[in-house]
Amino acid sequence: MPSTSESALLLPGAPVAEAVLAETAAATARLRERGITPSLATVLVGDDDASAGYIRIKQRQAAELGFASPHEHLPAAASQADLHRVIARFNADPAVHGLLVQYPIPAHLDYDVALQSIDPDKDVDGMHPLNMGRLAVGLPGPLPCTPAGIETLLAHYEIPVSGREVVILGRGATLGRPLAMLLAQKRPTANAAVTVVHTGVRDWPRYARRADVLVGAAGVPGIIQPEHVKPGAVVIGAGVRYAGRRLLPDVDEACASVAGAITPRVGGVGPTTVAMLVRNVVRAAERASG
Ligand SMILES: NC(=O)c1ccc[n+]([C@@H]2O[C@H](COP(=O)([O-])OP(=O)(O)OC[C@H]3O[C@@H](n4cnc5c(N)ncnc54)[C@H](OP(=O)(O)O)[C@@H]3O)[C@@H](O)[C@H]2O)c1
Repeated sequence: MPSTSESALLLPGAPVAEAVLAETAAATARLRERGITPSLATVLVGDDDASAGYIRIKQRQAAELGFASPHEHLPAAASQADLHRVIARFNADPAVHGLLVQYPIPAHLDYDVALQSIDPDKDVDGMHPLNMGRLAVGLPGPLPCTPAGIETLLAHYEIPVSGREVVILGRGATLGRPLAMLLAQKRPTANAAVTVVHTGVRDWPRYARRADVLVGAAGVPGIIQPEHVKPGAVVIGAGVRYAGRRLLPDVDEACASVAGAITPRVGGVGPTTVAMLVRNVVRAAERASG
């Protein structure tokens, strides 16, 4: 059971991730019995410390599950063609099931163009336009990791979403927009009345205050305050900004005094994201092997 903080139940991501990783380990074992080793290829361009750290976390998780994890580290001065050559090599390798290029890449390179050159079936970040399209029309394919992590977290804690009002603050391509598509789908763990608000909706607090589930997906520290939360509502903090190593979340901690349940300031949605990534790798391996 989640623990209590002030009046709100806390919804940590770690138990959710553990449950997903246990399922993923079982699926990996089934694949290995058939002689298939799931493989996550990663590409890092340049020497950004934070990006290198994220790659290490993903590789460590892949290693713990017994995945192969081929890696290519390109210098900061690499050209777009250099990057595409590496992507093409991993695309063509049948032993590679998942492929990601760590974001951000150096400013002289175009991330969106690189993303579009990844084989959509290997796009385990779920961000390729074809996968966004699959999500929009409800076709199977890799789901974007953070939105899928949020749906899984809500389901894990048996928070009802179906038929209820979900308000998402932010319509960004990595979070708010795909989350809205996901939670509006006709499935028991989704099926919500979803409203997306953003800078174009000046009176967004009016919508936020009627949410049964309110999601911060703006990347504006402290934008969600207790007065924006309906008493007893569930508050999910996904939007964050970093000041150096310090994490500044969208959701002010004081919201715990009004919410019925809330993700913790640290260790909420984050841990579910990597779990969704490795789940995407195993599912890609399952699809590739029929
Ligand atoms: N926890 C995780 O694992 C994880 C993973 C991915 C992303 N994130 C975080 O999620 C956040 C969103 O990511 P993203 O890529 O989707 O960002 P994005 O593209 O920058 O989108 C931010 C959204 O927030 C809205 N917004 C910004 N300021 C606002 C304000 N004052 N009032 C109302 N709306 C406002 C923007 O509105 P407009 O569209 O009108 O500009 C935009 O729709 C970021 O903080 C990112 O770090 C977290």
